[in-house]
This record gives sequence, C-alpha cells and structure tokens, in this order.
Amino acid sequence: MTYSSLRKGIILAGGKGKRLAPLTKSISKQLMPVYDKPMIYYPLATLMLCGIKEIMIVSDPDHIGLFRKLLDNGKEWGIDLQYAIQQKPEGVAQAVLIGEEFIGSNNVAIALGDNIFHGNDLISILRSADSWNKGGTIFAYPVSDPENYGVLKFDHSGSVIEIEEKPKKPSSQYAVTGMYFYDNTVIERAKKLNFSSRGELEITDLNKSYLNDQLLNVKMMGRGIAWLDTGTIDSLQEASLYIRTLEYRQGLKIGCPEEISWRQGWINDNQLVKLANNLSHSSYGEYLRRLLEFKIKDPLSN
Ligand code: DAU
Repeated sequence: MTYSSLRKGIILAGGKGKRLAPLTKSISKQLMPVYDKPMIYYPLATLMLCGIKEIMIVSDPDHIGLFRKLLDNGKEWGIDLQYAIQQKPEGVAQAVLIGEEFIGSNNVAIALGDNIFHGNDLISILRSADSWNKGGTIFAYPVSDPENYGVLKFDHSGSVIEIEEKPKKPSSQYAVTGMYFYDNTVIERAKKLNFSSRGELEITDLNKSYLNDQLLNVKMMGRGIAWLDTGTIDSLQEASLYIRTLEYRQGLKIGCPEEISWRQGWINDNQLVKLANNLSHSSYGEYLRRLLEFKIKDPLSN
C-alpha cells in the first residue's frame, strides 16, 4: 500500500474572488479558464499526481453545484470526488473542520483551488513530502511580492522560526504555497484555532501549531518549478499564456486529469476513448484521443 492510499485530499474552491470582479460576479474563480481548462483541474491534477484518489471539493453554496456538474463523482476518471459547502469564506483552515468526517483517521493534503504548480521535480518533491507521515509539510517558494502571502522567517542556521501571514515588512522572500500535507492531528489542531483579525481561521496559524511542536517540515521549491498566481486579471492571463506556451511547444497538456488517471493505470484505454469521445469537438478531446493513437510515452508529468 502506498502512503497516499492513506491520505485524503481537499481542494478549497470557495472565497469571493473579489480581485477578479466583475468576472467573478456570477462564476466561481476556480471555474474560470486557465488557457484550455477550468482552473480547478490544476490543483486536482496536482493531488492526483501525488497518488491521491479520494478528494473532497469545498466551495460556497452558490457554486458547489457547478463543480459537481463539471466533475461529477469522479468515477469516469477513476477517482472518488465528494463535495462540501463552506457557508462563508471563514478561512482556509476551516476546510479541515468541514472535512472532519471525510478525513476520518487518515492524513490529508489540502490544495488551494487557485494554485497552479508545474515543473520538472514537482512530482518527486510532492511525493517525498507525502512519505513524511508525522507532522505537517509545507512548501516554500521565492517570490518578488512576499507581503501578499504567508512568509517564512529563518534563523541564522536557516531553520524556520516563524510564519507570518501577509506581513507588512516580510522577513524573507519565501512564501508558503497553497499545498499542505498534514497528519491526522490536524483535526484537533484546527479545532483549537481562533479567528484572526480578518475573521478567518488562518492556515498560517495551523502551520504554526506544527512549527511550535517542531513537527513542521518545510520543503523548498526551487527555480525549476513554476508556482503560478491567478489572483489578478494580469496574473490569470500570464498563467494562461504560460500553459499555452508549453502545451503548444510540447504537444503535451499540463494539468490534464484524464491523462494522469490513464498514466497511473486508474482508467484503461477504453475508458480514455470514452472520455475523448465525450469531448469529440474540442481540441482537448482530440488530445485525449491522440494519447492513445500515438501511445505518447511521457514519464508522469503534469
Ligand atoms: O496562495 C498561497 C497563500 O494562500 C498562502 O501564502 C497564505 O498563507 C494563505 O493564507 C493563502 O493566502 P490568500 O489570502 O491568498 O488566500 P485566499 O483568501 O486568496 O484564498 C486561497 C484559496 O482558498 C482561494 O482559491 C479561495 C479559497 N478560499 C479562501 C478562503 C479564505 C476558500 O475556499 N474559502 C475561504 O474561506
């Protein structure tokens, strides 16, 4: 049994998407296109690349039905998708409380629905984190605007000593990305959190709880990995362009759940054909069909 078979996944796809208004007035941010697919495909693909098959999608009451319409129960993709409502956007860490029953006695990986990762070593980095089965694992990434994120503070030996949420004066350029691996103590830890001054149960406070117990594993994501922002109109466009550029050049898709499932052996050739036929008029469907025609052999990548 691989470690991930003991780990559940949660994708947080609620929030207000205020910075993308009016685009987000009637549609969820995480359903908006990033080049050729809805944004949520990317975090879903990231979790699937970690080998995680049981995934809960958390969104607000207005949009949860749209996610269900898009993704259904996951069976056709060889995975198990469940849905839960977050009544109000009361913080990323609330996902743990909403998903308590779903998590059960398992470990959990939480992915933010608007975070896109891509790169060479991504899978090995994520999988090595996934094999760490005690405590929590987070990923640090250098950014030019750390004040917009959770930020790590290091001591002279390079150990993390503090995490600050959107500090006015960041003490490093290392932001905490929106992908978190937790052991089962996360449930008890989340229950002890208090609402922050902005009225949220902060994921940073959850991470601090592990840090204070010396149970926080911080992994660096280096230059070879792209962590794309989708928070503003410009960054959303840039993310789309990034995906387009690579997909166009390589003829391989990034964040394609059907392909990942097929490559992992969760669905067979016939099931892939069926999925391709259902999308027969789009280039996406054409791509799925081509995977089979040419049996494009690609080491698992996203
Ligand atoms: O992207 C990484 C950053 O994500 C971290 O560096 C920060 O520490 C963490 O707090 C978070 O910061 P943001 O302020 O950027 O998170 P945001 O409010 O944009 O929400 C992130 C995603 O989670 C987004 O897809 C919306 C969703 N969300 C957010 C909240 C607060 C929910 O579904 N429900 C919520 O209550």
